[in-house]
Amino acid sequence: MREPAAEGRTEVVIRRLDAISARRHLDELAELLVDAVEGGASVSFVAPLAHYEARDWFAGVLHEMELGRRVVLAAFMGGRVVGCAQLVLAWQPNAAHRAEVQKMLVHRSARRRGIGARLMRRLEVEARALGRTLLILDTETGSDAEHLYSHLGWTRVGVIPDYAMRPDGSGLRPTSLWYRSVE
Ligand SMILES: CC(C)(COP(=O)(O)OP(=O)(O)OC[C@H]1O[C@@H](n2cnc3c(N)ncnc32)[C@H](O)[C@@H]1OP(=O)(O)O)[C@@H](O)C(=O)NCCC(=O)NCCS
Repeated sequence: MREPAAEGRTEVVIRRLDAISARRHLDELAELLVDAVEGGASVSFVAPLAHYEARDWFAGVLHEMELGRRVVLAAFMGGRVVGCAQLVLAWQPNAAHRAEVQKMLVHRSARRRGIGARLMRRLEVEARALGRTLLILDTETGSDAEHLYSHLGWTRVGVIPDYAMRPDGSGLRPTSLWYRSVE
């Protein structure tokens, strides 16, 4: 039997989405991306990111899910999507053990409640089940996300200067490369 949600807190459920359920939640997933960019996170896009652009990007993700190239997790709170994380499976024949973590996003209204950590731990479980025992990612140097990865035991390999434009277009920022073995 499941424990009732703690008083005053809404229960958070992490689910792996299939392409059908991801399509059903496309607007909420797009909203997460728009919120992250508005909040200044470096997640491939620059501001302003229109909802339809974010939706189009996630539509491409759906296609890759259907092809078995991506795993998408969503965090639900009160039935709404408040977070997501993705695993991009390396296609290379010599890298069947590797996957890249992308678009770890928690809505600003739901941060610092452990949702990002839960998404990442579940992503690791999914990766292991698929035989993807080496995980990699990159993230803006000095970002909130770096605290999360460090907290979860990831190893920072190094920094690439001038890697990506800030979301507000004000200049280039470095990125850090991270990895974790989940064997
Ligand atoms: C990074 C992100 C996913 C973290 O999500 P979250 O749900 O707030 O993270 P959690 O609550 O699970 O944090 C777990 C631990 O990570 C660390 N951490 C997370 N965010 C932090 C912050 N802003 N400052 C300091 N430490 C932080 C802390 O150790 C935290 O544990 P604590 O709250 O007990 O101190 C969220 O800030 C986000 O969506 N950022 C914008 C998008 C982004 O940059 N994504 C990464 C792209 S690679």
